[in-house]
Amino acid sequence: MIVTTAQLFKVAYGKYAIGAYNINNAEQTMGLFKGCMQAKAPFIIQLSKGARNYTDKRMLEAIIRAAEEIFPEAIYAVHLDHGDEQTCYDCIDSGFYSSVMIDASHDPLQENIAITRRVVDRAHAKGLSVEAELGMLGGVEEDISVDEGNACLTNPEEAVEFVTKSGCDSLAAAIGTSHGAYKFKGQQSLHFEVIEAIQKKLPGLPIVMHGSSSVPKDEVARINKAGGTLDPTACGVNEDEYLPAAKLGVTKVNIDTDGRLVWTRVHREFFRDKPDAFDFRPPGKTFIEEYAKFIAHKSEKLGSAGKLDEVRAAVSKK
Ligand code: G3H
Ligand code: 13P
Ligand code: ZN
Repeated sequence: MIVTTAQLFKVAYGKYAIGAYNINNAEQTMGLFKGCMQAKAPFIIQLSKGARNYTDKRMLEAIIRAAEEIFPEAIYAVHLDHGDEQTCYDCIDSGFYSSVMIDASHDPLQENIAITRRVVDRAHAKGLSVEAELGMLGGVEEDISVDEGNACLTNPEEAVEFVTKSGCDSLAAAIGTSHGAYKFKGQQSLHFEVIEAIQKKLPGLPIVMHGSSSVPKDEVARINKAGGTLDPTACGVNEDEYLPAAKLGVTKVNIDTDGRLVWTRVHREFFRDKPDAFDFRPPGKTFIEEYAKFIAHKSEKLGSAGKLDEVRAAVSKK
């Protein structure tokens, strides 16, 4: 059942986080639904601009609709990840999405507010909620590259002005993470003090954590053992920090890179061990099972595992 992102946030806020997973194809979608059903977890499917253009946005929509028939127990929202203004409007008008993210974080504050406000007005008129970003993550977001050194954490004072004037429903805040596999040099922690300060000034506002992959060392090692050349110092977010962050208002946790690592490990190992193989279905099937396991594990770490029934009860009350 597709529900609104706001419905999921209302149930989870301050208690646990909803995993938001980027989806590009049928195999990921199968693995995601299977994993969430195994864990009995609500979830958010998110589609980036790149994902919508990979095959065709209608293909992705059809795959998700099919998954809904195959897994009638699933409860989830569909979200546009890192949208520009036009893509937001396309998704709002499509009638398929639960929420959109407008990412104008690379623009100056007042411009970011103005763009976000326009998207909020159009989205709210159609019952969708809007995630907006303030501050800059390090790493690479679609076309925009931000140097690690220039990554700037969200300023809580600015967040108040931004959220109040833009009317956004949730805030993607820069709290020390970045996209991709190379987040930190050495062991680093989330900036809990920033999360806390934002929550104090904006109580009740769901905070979104981007760049939340944990980049498991053993996954990187297996990929490299099977011919990959990932930098072994690749490092991500400590999964044991998801839940403490959730208690402080981080209600949506975005995970993409870790799933790509699962895909890479499965396929590299398969073709290393079977160099004469050329049928893509055997590794595809293994990937679906491994991705499902990975999703079930993330749901445990996020605290969303086992929450399906309480979410079902809450959304059916209305
Ligand atoms: O934050 C970006 C997500 O990982 C999506 O990546 O734009 O390559 O689809 P993508
Ligand atoms: P990761 O690259 O850490 O998986 O982050 C994904 C993300 O933030 C998608 O918006
Ligand atoms: Zn992101």
